[in-house]
Amino acid sequence: MKSIALTNQKGGVGKTTASINLASLWGGKSRVLLVDMDPQGNSSSGVGVFPKEVQWTAADVLEEKCSIQEAIKKAGFGQLSILPAHVGLAGLEADSLPIDSLKKQLARVQNDFDFVVVDCPPSLGRLTLNVLAAVERVLVPIKAGQFSITGLEQLFLTVVRLRLREVNPDLGVLGLFYNEAQPHTKLHQMIDRVLREAYSSLLLEAYIPRNVHLGEAQVVGEPINFFDPAARGYKAYLQLAEEVLQKW
Ligand SMILES: Nc1ncnc2c1ncn2[C@@H]1O[C@H](COP(=O)(O)OP(=O)(O)OP(=O)(O)O)[C@@H](O)[C@H]1O
Ligand SMILES: [Mg+2]
Repeated sequence: MKSIALTNQKGGVGKTTASINLASLWGGKSRVLLVDMDPQGNSSSGVGVFPKEVQWTAADVLEEKCSIQEAIKKAGFGQLSILPAHVGLAGLEADSLPIDSLKKQLARVQNDFDFVVVDCPPSLGRLTLNVLAAVERVLVPIKAGQFSITGLEQLFLTVVRLRLREVNPDLGVLGLFYNEAQPHTKLHQMIDRVLREAYSSLLLEAYIPRNVHLGEAQVVGEPINFFDPAARGYKAYLQLAEEVLQKW
């Protein structure tokens, strides 16, 4: 079972949109579990599973109130399943959630899925640390702006610490990709120069342009490959999904 987390402490950079669409694209051929680890529950509703309508969510699984199998729902898009989140997950951010809670739970379904894609909240708190302790790879969406790259160093330092402390010795940063990219703008070119100097080997070729259909798809609770396969956003995610697999 391959596992990857979409992480960036900065809010609104595209973690959820990427989680939903990569999970759905891989779910065309493979058994994919999308894990929503954000109390906002956006990736749950983004695949049509509304936290209010389900009995169990990720918080219940992490607190061992139910089994992970009981909480996982079929999303109705290819072979995509979801472990939904609701706002109660926020309580675990402050609580003493053991760092290996998610890892232990995912081990219970390792033969049921080919991929796990985890959507993280916009912080480097306990929930994100739980994710980083559990997955093999980290994929970082960035928007061309100073604030979306300010936290990168801290994120990479955290990855190295988790590796060195043997919490997750195999954890690796797979790469960074631009979301809502406007490559012709001066801002994009300035940020690109800085990132290439610091992290050239990590910058992926594929980027996601600003595309309103990606936002519309979330409103109706469908991944882009089901909502509008003619959209530019769909084609961009297809390239990203392939490049990530090649670089794994
Ligand atoms: N490429 C894109 N083109 C247009 N809109 C986009 C694109 N990517 C994301 N969006 C929109 O931008 C907003 C933020 O995206 P998203 O929710 O994926 O970010 P996030 O990093 O998960 O945010 P948070 O940190 O709050 O969890 C959403 O309304 C989403 O629909
Ligand atoms: Mg999000």
